[in-house]
Amino acid sequence: MKTELLQKNEVARAAEIIRQGGLVAMPTETVYGLAADALNGAAVANIFRAKGRPMDNPLIVHIAELSQIHALVREFPEKAGILAETFWPGPLTMILPKSDIIPVEVSAGLDTVAIRCPSDATARELIRLSAPLAAPSANLSGSPSPTTVQHVIQDMNGRIDAIIDGGDCCVGVESTVITLATQPPRLLRPGGITLEQLRAAIGEVILDEAVLHPLANGQQAASPGMKYKHYSPKANVILLQGTEEAFLRFVNAHAEDTAAVLCYEEDIPDLQLPYLVLGAAEDYAEQANRLFAVLRQADEKGYQTVYAHCPATEGVGLAVYNRMIRAAGFEVIDLA
Ligand code: TXA
Ligand code: MG
Repeated sequence: MKTELLQKNEVARAAEIIRQGGLVAMPTETVYGLAADALNGAAVANIFRAKGRPMDNPLIVHIAELSQIHALVREFPEKAGILAETFWPGPLTMILPKSDIIPVEVSAGLDTVAIRCPSDATARELIRLSAPLAAPSANLSGSPSPTTVQHVIQDMNGRIDAIIDGGDCCVGVESTVITLATQPPRLLRPGGITLEQLRAAIGEVILDEAVLHPLANGQQAASPGMKYKHYSPKANVILLQGTEEAFLRFVNAHAEDTAAVLCYEEDIPDLQLPYLVLGAAEDYAEQANRLFAVLRQADEKGYQTVYAHCPATEGVGLAVYNRMIRAAGFEVIDLA
């Protein structure tokens, strides 16, 4: 299949492809999404084929206006209204009981549907000109989510109808996912909207176990996406927990040819091995923004081992931690 590369002023062409049941990769403020008409089950099924995604992993439906949600869900609780008012448009996905018009391909057989209203202007225009859009991240299943159009081209060229070039994504990790289908609300995936912000808006929010820990054998994932290794580069990622000094001592002692370190700006003068910079040590938003691009760079350079700091779990740091620990297959070396 020949994939059309479209510019931001060619959204009308992208909308035509969506209306005909095709697949378009679109920019969003979090990561690029691979979109199809959410109410066209056959089109949505092609998303799973293009990504190599397991069919039991449900998709997020993207809307441009809050008013679009009412046809898609069976209930819209007061707390959902507060969250929409506070954080939409933006990087927050809400899970709610689904209405009957949601195709089984979108919800993967669950009784709920995930809804997000993105803030990216191109994504919103595409939705307005076509339909609510089902869209997972536009990467091949298992590889890091795409935060630049080059990443999308690498993974999806020849597999989908079109890609819209919207420049680089500004958040860099996927949206925060919260379910309101169970009480109290539960955070299933941390992202640009933090747990602290959610609690400030609606009170009690439970942090799902799977955000920080691997699922125990046989345990059901509240969010099917959490059971997959995910976010993985080819390199073996090893997280190091300990003081800055212990970190530097460890990585410098492990300076083999095929190893690199994913570091903070502050580390650079003390490193004796190749490095890729995540950002400033305290700037979690910058680290989130660069994480996936840096993991892809590690693979392009052919490193077999990548050492990294085990991130803090506050604010957007929780999102960085959640993605890193999965990239590392939950392997952390305690240096203390
Ligand atoms: O920022 C984002 O959310 C991006 C952009 C494109 O909007 N999309 C994205 O989609 O990250 P995806 O498919 O890569 O991740 C969706 C996550 C998965 O972990 C999936 O299991 C979960 O949301 N999910 C979707 N529907 C669900 C539902 N009904 N119940 C529980 N989890 C659900
Ligand atoms: Mg994804």
